[in-house]
Amino acid sequence: MGVKREHFGRMGVILALAGSAIGLGNIWRFPYMVGEYGGAAFIIVYLVFAFLISLPAFLAESLIGRKTGKSTYDALENLAPGTKWKWLGMLAVLGAFIITSYYSVVGGWSLDFLARSVVRGFDSANPEGAAVVFDRMTGSTIEPLLAHALFLGFSCMIIVLGVRKGIDRFSKVCIPLLFVLIVAMMLFSLSLPGSKDGLDYLLKPDFSKLTPRGIACALGQSFFSMSIGMGVVLTYSSYMKKQQKILATSVLTLIFDIFFAVISGFVVMPAVFSAGLRPEAGPSLVFESIPYIFAQMGAASPLLGRVMAIGFFLTILIAALTSEISMIESCVSMLMERLHWGRRKATWVIFCAALLLGCWCSLRSNVFSFCDFVSSNVFMMLGALAFTLFAGWKMDRAAVQNEFTNGGSLKISSALFGAFYFLIKYLVPPAILVIFFTNLL
Ligand code: PHE
Repeated sequence: MGVKREHFGRMGVILALAGSAIGLGNIWRFPYMVGEYGGAAFIIVYLVFAFLISLPAFLAESLIGRKTGKSTYDALENLAPGTKWKWLGMLAVLGAFIITSYYSVVGGWSLDFLARSVVRGFDSANPEGAAVVFDRMTGSTIEPLLAHALFLGFSCMIIVLGVRKGIDRFSKVCIPLLFVLIVAMMLFSLSLPGSKDGLDYLLKPDFSKLTPRGIACALGQSFFSMSIGMGVVLTYSSYMKKQQKILATSVLTLIFDIFFAVISGFVVMPAVFSAGLRPEAGPSLVFESIPYIFAQMGAASPLLGRVMAIGFFLTILIAALTSEISMIESCVSMLMERLHWGRRKATWVIFCAALLLGCWCSLRSNVFSFCDFVSSNVFMMLGALAFTLFAGWKMDRAAVQNEFTNGGSLKISSALFGAFYFLIKYLVPPAILVIFFTNLL
């Protein structure tokens, strides 16, 4: 027998799952996707997908983890011994590893921008400053590599401390802090002159911009944001105690995640419009446009500009850290279980491997884009498909029901089970396939 498995505390698991969900996806990707694909029209589709497709997929993955109390590969082997399902589990973890590497590069940028804001703020006399800095970050200098190593190293330190003393504790401090920070940033952003145009941009539905690609992006983004299909949800759920309610935990995670994404839109867009910038900047919005806004603000009131920049990049940094940690844990726990390695050794191996792949992503933008593309559009989709098909078609209905309803003791879960089972059997898998092919075309 292996070492006794650790467990999250009751709040710990919700906060850790929320920590995994809330990340760069919410602050960096969601606002510009909303801008690109029709504002509120995109948000509506996003919400429908979140509840009808992502939530059941999240639940399916979660119940496999809690039922077995194992990490991805062993969980599938345990429930379907001698079959090939476990290899799909391994692919999902490989996807988590790839995201770990390039995510840490972006985490490094936020660390660098935070340090810059603390030390001297952004140069208001040179509005192009942030873009220049950003070019340097994505070019071949040593600075982004160092920032990437620091970000990854810190995440690994939390992992080495373990589930209870590391992840659980860290999430309990970070998640409440994140909510305070983002709400404060939103209030500030909404108070800027001209911010109303940003609100209009976010809230007016423009269905003409909602292309098939936009619809596919909405589902892809929802999976990415909820950390589905990478073995992360499965692994965290395997540390859940048996008396916890899977449905309640999952719904709460979803609500936190959506709240954070929408509020991030209310931080970014009003500020962008107030500064007279265009929101179509896409991925560089957060690292080029936003610092420029702080620089402008700094010209009028240096202290204010500085404080806002610190608050903003601190929010991104913390959100990115809690997500990064969850991906590393998915990889580390599988190595520990498969190879009977200690936590420290498994973490070192992941650290070194992710450091190398991350440096490569940092130095070559095409490697970065390729990693982003295959992990989000191939591995993540295949992982999500595998977990839902497994719970819907491979596992015994009675076993799934038992796990979902805590042996029939939960009233609401029992009442909703039929709907959930129908969704993971008949709606989620074809929906994933449609999106998968749309993304590849
Ligand atoms: N959910 C995270 C975000 O929104 C990213 C993530 C993806 C984390 C997959 C874990 C697994 O940024």
